[in-house]
Amino acid sequence: MRILFIGDIVGSPGRKIWKEYMPRLVSKYKPDVTIVNAENSSGGKGLTKKVYHELLEAGADILTMGNHMWDKKEIFDFIDDAEHVIRPANFPEGTPGKGMVIKKVRGKKLAVINLQGRTFMNAIDCPFRKADDLLSEVRQEADITFIDFHAEATSEKLALAWYLDGRATAVVGTHTHVPTADNRVLPNGLAYITDVGMTGPYDGILGVEREAVIQRFLTNLPTRFEVTKGREQLNGVVIDTDSNTGKATSIKRIHISDDAPFFD
Ligand SMILES: [Fe+2]
Ligand SMILES: [Fe+2]
Repeated sequence: MRILFIGDIVGSPGRKIWKEYMPRLVSKYKPDVTIVNAENSSGGKGLTKKVYHELLEAGADILTMGNHMWDKKEIFDFIDDAEHVIRPANFPEGTPGKGMVIKKVRGKKLAVINLQGRTFMNAIDCPFRKADDLLSEVRQEADITFIDFHAEATSEKLALAWYLDGRATAVVGTHTHVPTADNRVLPNGLAYITDVGMTGPYDGILGVEREAVIQRFLTNLPTRFEVTKGREQLNGVVIDTDSNTGKATSIKRIHISDDAPFFD
């Protein structure tokens, strides 16, 4: 099973570049399933119902989220009916939505799990123990298990990956919006990258207008963050897995920008 994963889509620039390249990504990589992190897809923060449907129509099979999960209030109106979106599974008990989805892909079962880190982020339930619980829950059922670990600290992401090597197929990091070059398959078959990077503005600061971010650092005063305009980038990974063993065989990075044009 080949999985295409697209890092945090940021606002309309992110949706634009992803939709523009998706047909070419599909024809080049021929993924069996496409997973997209959508936590910033509506105006840079959160997910609206309109964008939820827009992303599914453009080829996303499953949407993962993160700390911006609740930023668009209307999410509470449709989350219970939105079967293709998951939120971090280690949000407290009773939180709306679900943290895992199982999808049939070419006769095999793929479990997609979303988790969120706790280092330099809000204090939520333990992602390590939540991963233990969910993986033991789906051990019999799922052939492949994919985890989007939405976290700030490199150490926390690496720790989860090594902790789960041999028990999950992939742990990919999101949230920092900057791609890392450490994609690899760990010795027991877990595909890993610390951060996939974002999909959206190329010349902003993590997707946000530079001036507002610089002023925030200069003055420490509150400034309004807007999704910046101009050139765009796309970041993702392609993961090859063996559905019989549940192990990954490769993880490759995709980066598209003016500095790295896409070749079919
Ligand atoms: Fe993000
Ligand atoms: Fe985030």
